[in-house]
Amino acid sequence: MTKQIVFSGIQPTGDIHIGNYLGALRNWVRLQDEYETIYCVVDLHALTIPQDPAAFEKDRLEAAKMVIAAGVDPTTSLFYYQSQVPQHTELSWILGTLTQLGSLNRMTQFKDKSDRVGANLGLYAYPVLMAADILIHHAHKVPVGEDQTQHLELARDLAERFNRRYGDEFPVPEGIIPEHGARIMSLQDPTSKMSKSDPNQGSRILLLDEPDVVRKKIGRAVTDSGTGIEYDWEKKPGITNLLEILSLFQDTAVETLVAEHHDKQYGEFKQLVAEAVVDGLAPIRSAYNTLEDEDVSRLMNKGALDARTSAEKYQVGVRQKVGLTGH
Ligand code: TRP
Repeated sequence: MTKQIVFSGIQPTGDIHIGNYLGALRNWVRLQDEYETIYCVVDLHALTIPQDPAAFEKDRLEAAKMVIAAGVDPTTSLFYYQSQVPQHTELSWILGTLTQLGSLNRMTQFKDKSDRVGANLGLYAYPVLMAADILIHHAHKVPVGEDQTQHLELARDLAERFNRRYGDEFPVPEGIIPEHGARIMSLQDPTSKMSKSDPNQGSRILLLDEPDVVRKKIGRAVTDSGTGIEYDWEKKPGITNLLEILSLFQDTAVETLVAEHHDKQYGEFKQLVAEAVVDGLAPIRSAYNTLEDEDVSRLMNKGALDARTSAEKYQVGVRQKVGLTGH
């Protein structure tokens, strides 16, 4: 039986943290066994907020290295930079002609980001390009965090619209949203998501943080009033977030952890969580350190070549359906 296709993308905006890892990257790695996996560093998406060109070059490479260090195998998965495969933007334009402004106006991420950095056309069209990323490869499944469900809904809608207007072309993609890990919260404010744009470095653990940095950040994590290790997002968001992190790094159900640790002091529990995170990140840090920039760039160029070939195969059909074949 042919395998279903999985597609996902990560923005190269620097500082990849455990929220990105537990919510996305780790699942990318696991999906490699069961699906035909296609992963992309979505550099064009990242351009929708102002980037310094030299720093951006570094961030792109860094993102590629982190994805590989986290366990995405570029000989198993198709892995490349979005900007190197022009079929994405071509399809994005065509899908844009099927997109109602009303649906873009409803996008909460657009509203949030345009409040912060000002509105530009790229930011507005961001969800259309994302739909193109997914549809260009005829993906069936899209592993994403919970914050992307609205964007994914548009991709589904555009697949259906295209199919209705021009004839069957695209599978309607489905999200794979992890039950746990989709929302790792800030260590400093466990009611808001761990984020790379938080000015407080202590709010997040980076994948490349040294063990002592990890210990310090978890040691200083905000906990809740009272005592006892309980899973309760309302009453104990700080401890609950740490339980979630421990559960993911140790691959152990939260209930089991609560049964084991319920009467521990916060300090002791934090030490335990810190060691689990240190152990979980060690192989990623060591893999990252063995990767040479030139080798990664070479892998990415090869990935782009293969991705252009496979995307073009489908894009020919799209052009035919739309009436853009030139005869
Ligand atoms: N918008 C996604 C994010 O910020 C990144 C992304 C771009 C993506 N294109 C995609 C994710 C296609 C999944 C599929 O996380």
